[in-house]
Amino acid sequence: MAERIIARLDSVSLRFGDRLVLQNCSLPIVEGAITCIVGLSGAGKSTVLRLLDGLVRPQEGHVYVRDVDVCHTKERELNKIRRSISLSFQFAALLDSLTLEQNVSLPLVENTNMRRSEIRQKVSEALDAVGLTFANTNLPAELSGGMLKRAGFARAVVTQPDLILYDEPTTGLDPISVHLITKTIMRLRERSNGTAVVTSHDLPAIYMMADYMAMLFEGVIIAYGTTEEIRQSQNPIVQQFLAGDEVGPIPI
Ligand SMILES: Nc1ncnc2c1ncn2[C@@H]1O[C@H](COP(=O)(O)OP(=O)(O)OP(=O)(O)O)[C@@H](O)[C@H]1O
Ligand SMILES: [Mg+2]
Repeated sequence: MAERIIARLDSVSLRFGDRLVLQNCSLPIVEGAITCIVGLSGAGKSTVLRLLDGLVRPQEGHVYVRDVDVCHTKERELNKIRRSISLSFQFAALLDSLTLEQNVSLPLVENTNMRRSEIRQKVSEALDAVGLTFANTNLPAELSGGMLKRAGFARAVVTQPDLILYDEPTTGLDPISVHLITKTIMRLRERSNGTAVVTSHDLPAIYMMADYMAMLFEGVIIAYGTTEEIRQSQNPIVQQFLAGDEVGPIPI
């Protein structure tokens, strides 16, 4: 079956001031797949996610989500697209005065006409997916950092968006939480259209979940392919990065 492209970067170049952060980057995001973006710190991974969400606009090139050019769309139109394709981005801070359950229910209360019983069911599923059912009545201040991150994750997925952008979802978590989050991303993908773009430094988690990988190096996408293709890449920069070698073409 032919792959469908849900979003893509098309020859994107982006500068912050004098600094060329992304240079002629093209990247397809395959619908229903998990695409992981890897690369050194500062390579431009988070910037790619912000482009896909229309938070930054490139000086050159185009960013398409579905068939809409998000770089040349008015803010009002963009908000409509954001809602209709439900892009989520990075785990925003939870509200201190609300319980976990209330925090996670917010996107449903604010953006849908769902009945209370239905909302309760969705919230319960989301909290269950991240292993936080037992903490549903706790306030954010009563949770550990890792638990907060998982709670933010539950809130990002509770609306079951078509395309989710995860910026380092597992960074700073213990191995069991990493596993939980990785499994949750995979479970969402199994639903139709559960497309995800994930930036991560966690190679074992990436190998477990990624269908496609892209490697950014100094603002250029130097490799893109299936996870298997990237792992077998003959590109010395990719090889060095995946092996974690000190010796090689990457300047350190
Ligand atoms: N708003 C901004 N203004 C100026 N420079 C920025 C801005 N956002 C990002 N940059 C620069 O763009 C480059 C890429 O940043 P980005 O956050 O995309 O990297 P990254 O690959 O996500 O890194 P990390 O792995 O550390 O999260 C960096 O050099 C960063 O300093
Ligand atoms: Mg980043």
